[in-house]
Amino acid sequence: MKINVLLSSISVDELYFAGKTTVVIDILRATTTIISALRNGAKEIVPVATVEFAVKVSGGMFGGQTLLGGERNTKKIEGFALGNSPLEYSEDIISGKSIILYTTNGTKAIVKAKFSEELLICAFSNISALAKHLVNLNKDVEILCASRLNNFSMEDSVCAGKLITEIVKLDKEISLTDSARATVSLSKSFGKNLLNMLKETEHGKLLIENGFEEDLKFCSKLNTTDAIPYFTGNVLKLLPDHNETSSTEQ
Ligand code: MLT
Repeated sequence: MKINVLLSSISVDELYFAGKTTVVIDILRATTTIISALRNGAKEIVPVATVEFAVKVSGGMFGGQTLLGGERNTKKIEGFALGNSPLEYSEDIISGKSIILYTTNGTKAIVKAKFSEELLICAFSNISALAKHLVNLNKDVEILCASRLNNFSMEDSVCAGKLITEIVKLDKEISLTDSARATVSLSKSFGKNLLNMLKETEHGKLLIENGFEEDLKFCSKLNTTDAIPYFTGNVLKLLPDHNETSSTEQ
């Protein structure tokens, strides 16, 4: 099994992912929010790459049971029901709903990887469960860091490194590309205190500036769930074996 890390999606096009097993990471905040929303009972998440498409899809599809969620420059988009804070996606608001989600980087990365044979969602919250799942699958893996505006992002890379470290603990026969090895090294240097690491990142600082400091705490929690979202028929749902419901939300 070979693992490669794409530090952003800029160098590849959609066809790069055809037939591959891909894991998308956007710690701040899209993939953390997606995992939390599905765990809190959302029926499905529909990731979209433009605001216009989000509005179009929310019209007649999915039986009218839709909520529009997402952000621009970290803030809720005018006319949308929800922003991109995981704390907004509580059970009472989203249970049973299809959520159309647009975010600046995260959902675009997911849409770009849509031709993958398996497309899975990762955040700090589900690393351990996802590592086990990938070892069982035993296929080569592409880890796609959504990154920020096509620039390197520390938080996504540290998460990639932590996921790889977990996989290597379970299976010693893994081969790693240079970028994969680099993220493992970064996770050792910067991943000891995840909240402090997030506070020091460019995106973390922007979120604090815009009043979302609580989100950083939420996004820094490690291994709080077995939930693994996967992409199927243009929507994200939880893998059936990992379909736990929340009891003590993170
Ligand atoms: C993104 O996709 O760029 C992020 O999730 C943005 C954010 O919520 O701050």
